Amino acid sequence: MTHPLEQLRDDALAQIASSPDEHVLEILRVKFLGRSGSVSEWSDKMKSLPKEEKPVVGKLLNEVRMAITAAIEGRAENFRAEKEAAAVANIDLSLPGTPHERGALHPLTQMLDRSIAIFRRMGFALAEGPDIETEWHCFDALNTPADHPARNEQDTFYLADGRLLRTHTSTVQIRTMELAPPPIRVIAPGAAYRRDEIDATHTTQFHQIEGLYVDENVSVADLKGTLEFFLRELFGADTAVRFRPHYFPFTEPSFEIDVKSSALKGGEQWVEVCGCGMVHPAVFEAVNQSRHDKAYDPEKWTGFAFGLGMDRLAMILFDIPDIRLFAQNDLRFLGQFP
Ligand code: PHE
Repeated sequence: MTHPLEQLRDDALAQIASSPDEHVLEILRVKFLGRSGSVSEWSDKMKSLPKEEKPVVGKLLNEVRMAITAAIEGRAENFRAEKEAAAVANIDLSLPGTPHERGALHPLTQMLDRSIAIFRRMGFALAEGPDIETEWHCFDALNTPADHPARNEQDTFYLADGRLLRTHTSTVQIRTMELAPPPIRVIAPGAAYRRDEIDATHTTQFHQIEGLYVDENVSVADLKGTLEFFLRELFGADTAVRFRPHYFPFTEPSFEIDVKSSALKGGEQWVEVCGCGMVHPAVFEAVNQSRHDKAYDPEKWTGFAFGLGMDRLAMILFDIPDIRLFAQNDLRFLGQFP
């Protein structure tokens, strides 16, 4: 004689085996195993059974519960497998995948990142200032008199309120010294603007890294050592570096730096990459006036400053023939610098 529990198990297994989907299976799970499902009802019934029947029925009940649980899990697994098979049924796994488009940094950004990393290793911090500047920060404070050609309306972009687009990043020298007393060791990467005729080597917007180092006993030897180290890190140990005497109103003495290296694709040609010099005492005095103190006493502090042309450096490092390519957003060009 079959026990009603065995009957229950056989019914349950039959229904589970013929359940058409996950939804029906879930209903069956609740029906047989749920808190008020048939198996649970039997657990309750156990309590009222005569003592000698309890172990037999208890054992059977356990077996029935396990059999139903296993059947439900097995059926659920079937449904999952069917679903997965359906999902990939029309996919040819032997086809090549869809490639992801890979972006890359703009060559100028790469140049800036490389340069900044070198200066950071030498202990330079990053500084910044606005692109739209006052005439005072761009010229007066940098010892550039009103009759200097750089101030000509033909050479600079002026706004109606008298401000202008900075013609060099040297403005950040002034801004940094206004904010903090010496010693100072900063670089300031950024854009600069001039009203140049646009050609293969000139644009109205270009990029510089300004540098400023102010401390006690800073000399031309420090300036030379710093910039030679930088240029050799960038272009290779066999890079020749030449300091030519030059004139800037805000440095004295002043130099322009040319580099030449067989490693550079530009070949055996001197290329000008930097203006630099020892900070002019008049610049310290202008800063003191603005700060209303004597923090930059030219008798006590000396310093050097430099402005590196980033576009020029990128052009010789990457062998780029025309500066206008940087701004044209042509993927055929940009894709060459992954
Ligand atoms: N500001 C100068 C330029 O744009 C470069 C420079 C910076 C020169 C700092 C000396 C010191 O040409």
